[in-house]
Amino acid sequence: MASAEAIAELSKEVLSASLEGTLAEHSTQGSHGVNYHHPYTGNDGYAFYMPTLNLIGVGSINAAGAQIAELGFKKALIVTDKVLVKVGAVEHITKVLDSIHVEYAIYDGTEPNPTDNQVDQGVAMLKEENCDFIISFGGGSPHDCAKAIGVLATNGGKIHDYEGVNKTKTAMLPVVAINTTAGTGAEITRFAIITDTSRHVKMAIIDWKVTPTIAVDDPVLMVGMPKSLTAATGMDALTHAIEAYVSTISNPVTDANALHAMKLIKTYLRDAVHEGTNLKARDMMSYAEFLAGMAFNSASLGYVHAMAHQLGGVYNLPHGVCNAVLLPVVQEYNAKAVPHLFIDIAEAFGHRDIGEDEDLAVKRVLEDIRSLSKDVGIPKNLAELGVKPEDFGLLADNAMKDACGFTNPRAPTRDEVIELFRLAYEQ
Ligand SMILES: NC(=O)c1ccc[n+]([C@@H]2O[C@H](COP(=O)([O-])OP(=O)(O)OC[C@H]3O[C@@H](n4cnc5c(N)ncnc54)[C@H](O)[C@@H]3O)[C@@H](O)[C@H]2O)c1
Ligand SMILES: [Fe+2]
Repeated sequence: MASAEAIAELSKEVLSASLEGTLAEHSTQGSHGVNYHHPYTGNDGYAFYMPTLNLIGVGSINAAGAQIAELGFKKALIVTDKVLVKVGAVEHITKVLDSIHVEYAIYDGTEPNPTDNQVDQGVAMLKEENCDFIISFGGGSPHDCAKAIGVLATNGGKIHDYEGVNKTKTAMLPVVAINTTAGTGAEITRFAIITDTSRHVKMAIIDWKVTPTIAVDDPVLMVGMPKSLTAATGMDALTHAIEAYVSTISNPVTDANALHAMKLIKTYLRDAVHEGTNLKARDMMSYAEFLAGMAFNSASLGYVHAMAHQLGGVYNLPHGVCNAVLLPVVQEYNAKAVPHLFIDIAEAFGHRDIGEDEDLAVKRVLEDIRSLSKDVGIPKNLAELGVKPEDFGLLADNAMKDACGFTNPRAPTRDEVIELFRLAYEQ
């Protein structure tokens, strides 16, 4: 076996060959998917985060029971919302738990854009009911609420204490995330987004210790999504893929995930929206949101999310709709810094006539985003969403503090962020 010195020498050689060699002339992915996007600046590699076990595809909820039983827990706190209880969807998981003789209590107080108060209510119920693990059932909101409950159960304090990157001291209570939207990717990610009700800000808790232990993505649970929810969550997934692809910390693994997610969403989102019972479209969208989740979980996001979180925090608007409206505006801004990456995105969108024409690539990508949004019924601009121009300054201030923006390929000034809000308002 090679000595530590020899390995260090070799890795120096590999790095200098790859960085000084391939990156000498351009530090980016000009040659379509086979180069670095950005110069590697660290000396400690990349991290790739995922749940330990991922059950995917039609019928995967049926396989979940045996795997949950393997964990050996006695009583679950099911974190969900009132709609999913009312329509009977939650029975998909309670039946599974009955069959493996695991007890449960249900916290159904989660609402879209979950809040610090809902997290506290969940923690109180977890303690009262003596639950030893958590199951989230629903879309991004129950998953994020469950993760936050899991953090407080073992770390104590308030959820605000964990805003930022890797602030928890110990592992959260194990979470099994059963997903019903396609989607936020929250069932597999190390992100929990919780609204601070006093500041009206969506806090980003980014911590590999909030990654669920098991994630379940069964498209059968997604068939009941109404059109508007399918559209909003599908555009959220597209935003994850694009922001992860142009992120300053993307790598070849996240690139592969992101590009395939874009291809699937461009191909299947319209069918999933307009023909909700089309199980192939639902299945492909479920894979797409999973791939996009894998991409951004490790490559992180950009200014679309940094800005969308502020709209969610102040106006309580659907997350995916905010992203969809901001996406073309922010990507037009980003394209000035990384136009070559748009060649790859255009190719993933199915364009075969781009060649090396960066301007054409950017034009096609922006047109495709806008026409997809329109076809699936997303409102045209922030004016239609009731956003107020007098709030742009405050929204920009908070967007600039959001950790999701740190990996955007261009770092905007405050005036530029205000201008991006204005463009999205008027487009
Ligand atoms: N943690 C992450 O990595 C991450 C990433 C992106 C977004 N988010 C967060 O996720 C939240 C949004 O989640 P979401 O868009 O998945 O929606 P959601 O969980 O907020 O649910 C929206 C509504 O859809 C209903 N619903 C869910 N599944 C359904 C189904 N199969 N059929 C019918 N109705 C259904 C819910 O009852 C709810 O009323 C936001 O708070 C956002 O900030 C988190
Ligand atoms: Fe998102």
